[in-house]
Amino acid sequence: MSTLKAVRGTRDLLPPETALWNRIEATARAVFARYNFGEIRTPVFEDTTLFSRSVGEETDIVSKEMYTWEDRERFDLQSLINAWTTVQVKEKGFVIESAIPKVLQAVDKFGVKLILGRRNPERPEFVAFGAKVTREAVEGLMDAKQALRTKAILEFSADADYLRRFGPGLRLVVPAGLPAEDIELGEVSLEEFPGQFSKSVQSLTLRPENTAGVVRAYIEHKLGETGQLQKLYYIGPQFRRERPQKGRYRQFSQIGAEVIGPPHAGSESPLRDAEVLEMLATLLDELGITAWTLEINSVGSSADRERYNQTLREALIPLAPKMCVDCQRRAVTNPLRVLDCKVPEDQPIIETLPKIVDSLDEESKKHFAAVLAALDAGGVPYTRNHRLVRGLDYYTRTTFEFTHGGLGAQNALLGGGRYDGLSEAIGGPKAPGIGFAMGEDRLVLTLQSLKSAPPQVVDAYIAPLGESLNPAALALARELRRAGLSVELGDGSFRLKKSFEAADKTARRIVILGEDELQSAILTVKDFSTGIQTKVPRAELAAHLARPSELKS
Ligand code: HAM
Repeated sequence: MSTLKAVRGTRDLLPPETALWNRIEATARAVFARYNFGEIRTPVFEDTTLFSRSVGEETDIVSKEMYTWEDRERFDLQSLINAWTTVQVKEKGFVIESAIPKVLQAVDKFGVKLILGRRNPERPEFVAFGAKVTREAVEGLMDAKQALRTKAILEFSADADYLRRFGPGLRLVVPAGLPAEDIELGEVSLEEFPGQFSKSVQSLTLRPENTAGVVRAYIEHKLGETGQLQKLYYIGPQFRRERPQKGRYRQFSQIGAEVIGPPHAGSESPLRDAEVLEMLATLLDELGITAWTLEINSVGSSADRERYNQTLREALIPLAPKMCVDCQRRAVTNPLRVLDCKVPEDQPIIETLPKIVDSLDEESKKHFAAVLAALDAGGVPYTRNHRLVRGLDYYTRTTFEFTHGGLGAQNALLGGGRYDGLSEAIGGPKAPGIGFAMGEDRLVLTLQSLKSAPPQVVDAYIAPLGESLNPAALALARELRRAGLSVELGDGSFRLKKSFEAADKTARRIVILGEDELQSAILTVKDFSTGIQTKVPRAELAAHLARPSELKS
C-alpha cells in the first residue's frame, strides 16, 4: 500500500517549531489585550456567496483559489408535509384544522411538526412528520398530545371543548424506505409516504480569509446596535488553492484584527487607521521582527475607485495587447488588478499608467493625509506605494502591507486596509471598518531566518538507575512537575551514558535516581552548563532546579 502523506500545500507542525508558533500567538494576544481587542472565533466554512460578494467575483481568490463544494442534499420537512397533506385533502377528504393556530404554535415547541385534522368531525387526529422514526419524534408527539390536554395549552385555544374530545389518532408520517430506529411505537401509528423530500443544495467554501466572516458575524449578532466600536481579533487557519512554494501554502494561518462599528462610534476616523498601524509596528517589534517596511496607499472611496477603474480601462486600451494574457483579461474585467501583475516585461508599461492618487476626491485625500500625519506623529515609518491596491475588492481608502526582506518572493508579512462599504455589500448596516491579517507561517519563517528562537530545553531530566526505579522516578517527576518545573522522564532500561546523552540534548540539569538516592532522599544533580555535580536533599530539589543554571549552588 502506498504511504499516505499530508496533502500538497498542507503540512504538519511539530515541536520544537510549535513552541515558536505558541510564542508568536501569546505575544499577539498580549498586544491585542493592551489595545483592548477581544477574540472572535468564526466557523472555518461559510456560504460561498459571502466570499463572492465581499472579496469579489473577479479576484484571484474567488475565481480560482477557493475550496468550494456543494453540501449534501438535506431532508426538507416542509415538502413532506405539503405532499402528504395535498394527497390526504384531495383524495381522502381529510380536513386540516386551521382555526387553532395558537395551539399548533405552542405544540411546535416540542420538536415535532404537527398538524391537526380529521376525517370524521367527531374524531380529530393528530399527525406529525419526521425524517425518520426516532425516539425523540415519538416522545415529542406523545408529549405534545399530553400538552394539548393540559390547561396551559387549552387556555390558548378558542375551541377548548373540541380539543378535549381529541381522539386516540396519533400518526407519524415518514418518507417511505427510510430506516426506522428500533422504537416501541406504542399508541403512535406509523405511515410511510413515498417521494423525494430534499432541499436544494447549498454551496459552501472553506474560508480563504476572515474579514468577510467577521463582518457577517457583526451583522448577524447586531453588534452595531451596541453603538460601540468593535475591536476583534482572530487566530486561525485559512485555505487558498494557490501554487505552493516557500511561504505560500494551501492551508495557512492568519493572525488578524478588525475595527468596525457605526460611523458615530468613530469607525471612519483616520486615527483608527493610524492606531492599527502603530499596533502592528509594536507587535512586530515585540516579536523580534524589526527590519520591516510599511507600504501604504489610498484606493479612495468606491466612487473614486469606480472613476479610477474607468481611467485605467481607457489608458489600457492601446497598452493591453503588449501585456501578459492575465493583464489583457484584467484590462477589461477589473483594470485595478493590472497593478498587481508581477510579470517583469509588463512592469515598465504599468509604471506609465495613471496613479490612483490623482483620482481621489477631496474627502479621501484629506483622510489619507490625516492617517499619514498621525503616523508621523507616532513615529511609525512608512513608504508610499502607488500600486498597492491589494487583491481583494472590498478595500476603500487606506491599504497597506508590511514586508520583510528575509522572506524571498512571498515577502508580505501582512496586509490590510479599510473596507467602509463591506457591511452594506453583504446586506448589513453602514459599518465602516479597518483591519489586517498577518501570515503566521511567514512570521515563523522570518523568525527562523533571524535565528532568534531559543532552543527548547526543560528544567530537569530524571534518570532512574534500573527499571525497578521507574515507578519512583515517575513519582519524583510528578512532584517536580506539580511544583511548576518542566521535566523529561528517562527510563531505567537506559545505561547511564545514554541517559546523559539524552539529557544533555533536552534539559538544563540531570537528576540521578538510584537505590541510595531513594533511601537517603538525597539526589545527585548535574548542571550541564557549569558541569558541576551536587547532592541535593529531596525537599530542596524543586527550589534548586528552579534556579538559573549560572548560579553555582
Ligand atoms: P491578504 O493579503 O490576502 O489579506 O492576506 C494577508 C496575509 O496572509 C498575507 O500578507 C500573507 O502574509 C498571508 N497569506 C495569504 N495567503 C497566504 C498563503 N497562501 N500562504 C501563507 N500565507 C498567506 C487578507 O486576507 C485580508 N482579510 C486582510 C484584512 C483584514 N484586510 C482587512 N482586514
